[in-house]
Amino acid sequence: MIKLHDKYFKPFISAAEIEEAVDKMVMEIASDLGDEVPVFVGILNGSFMLTSDFVKKYPKPCEVTFIKLASYEGLKSSEDIQRLIGLTQDLTGRTVIILEDIIDTGKTLAEVHRIFKNEAVKSLKIATLFYKPEAYKKDFKLHYIGIEIPNKFIVGYGLDYDNLGRDLPEVYQIKETQHMTNLVLFGPPGAGKGTQANFLKEKYNLIHISTGDVFRYNIKNETALGMLAKSYIDKGALVPDQVTIDMLNAEVEKNADANGFLFDGFPRTTAQAEALDKLMDSKDSQINAMIALEVEDEVLVKRLLERGKTSGRADDADEGVIRNRLKVYYDETAIVADYYTNQDKFVAIDGVGTVEEVTERLSTVIDKL
Ligand code: AP5
Ligand code: MG
Repeated sequence: MIKLHDKYFKPFISAAEIEEAVDKMVMEIASDLGDEVPVFVGILNGSFMLTSDFVKKYPKPCEVTFIKLASYEGLKSSEDIQRLIGLTQDLTGRTVIILEDIIDTGKTLAEVHRIFKNEAVKSLKIATLFYKPEAYKKDFKLHYIGIEIPNKFIVGYGLDYDNLGRDLPEVYQIKETQHMTNLVLFGPPGAGKGTQANFLKEKYNLIHISTGDVFRYNIKNETALGMLAKSYIDKGALVPDQVTIDMLNAEVEKNADANGFLFDGFPRTTAQAEALDKLMDSKDSQINAMIALEVEDEVLVKRLLERGKTSGRADDADEGVIRNRLKVYYDETAIVADYYTNQDKFVAIDGVGTVEEVTERLSTVIDKL
């Protein structure tokens, strides 16, 4: 991923794929033109890189010239095309091939046709490395197309975002969602995930999603989801993966504009971790870290029994159920730490101490990310 000005871009088309497309265009054009000596006209600024690579590969004699048109302002294709440098040589009777880096709406192309309307060229053909069929609104024929791409903003290989990015040898696509920080708070029941999340969400401006809280909200409101979840939660067992994953996805979707998420109590299985990666991927984002709070069992049991006196949580009321939650954690959930260790994203901290001390330790880890 790269950042240009205020925006993030992800890799989209590699240098090798670009080269392959340029080769293909060179071959098509060379075979169509035979022994004719064409004039290649690059459209500046964007096509400088394509033009250079293209003519180096062109197997026969050719001429090269440029015209300079300005059509982009920031991310949008602007209405106004400015002609900054026009034709500087007589092209009467010549075969002209326009080399464009990209054709989207076709406005630049309209200006090109205006320029050539009164030139008595033998033929005028259009070649473009990238083409956005969904955006193209003109009827001009495109004779040679390198790669068709979706209607997303791209940079690199001559294309810029506010003048940056032209120098990149490969092409990047703008990220759908801009930069998010997504954290998983991990640890056994009673480790302090909920307590710490309340501080961290304010400090880092994150949306806190506790799957346990969402289940309890549904139980209180007697929804179908709540009724289903209750039968598992009351025993200290895990709610089935698909139910939990669907619910989590819906919670994330409700906060599409979030700065990032703080996941608490999710993922609890490898299947959930994989689903979370997929969800983050669909947002052009990722989990930055899993931070585990480590607390020994007897402290956990004491904390939860204490909370059980006032929390009204059925799963806090009974020591047997609390111990079963711990067993389920070690048997089914602890393994999720390996999933993030393998991605080099797992950090464990000591969860014993005052609430403030633990917040401090967590902040130190997060600030380093
Ligand atoms: P969930 O609600 O996630 O419960 P849990 O994981 O068992 O954890 P808790 O919420 O009890 O503890 P916590 O770590 O948040 O600690 P807290 O800050 O409250 O899940 C409940 C159930 O829902 C599960 O058993 C399962 O059935 C189901 N479920 C949820 N997510 C699921 C999923 N992804 N897949 C399948 N099923 C799922 O602190 C605990 C107590 O300690 C508090 O009283 C607090 O005041 C105290 N405390 C906190 N920090 C300190 C400290 N530093 N010093 C002293 N006391 C402290
Ligand atoms: Mg909790």
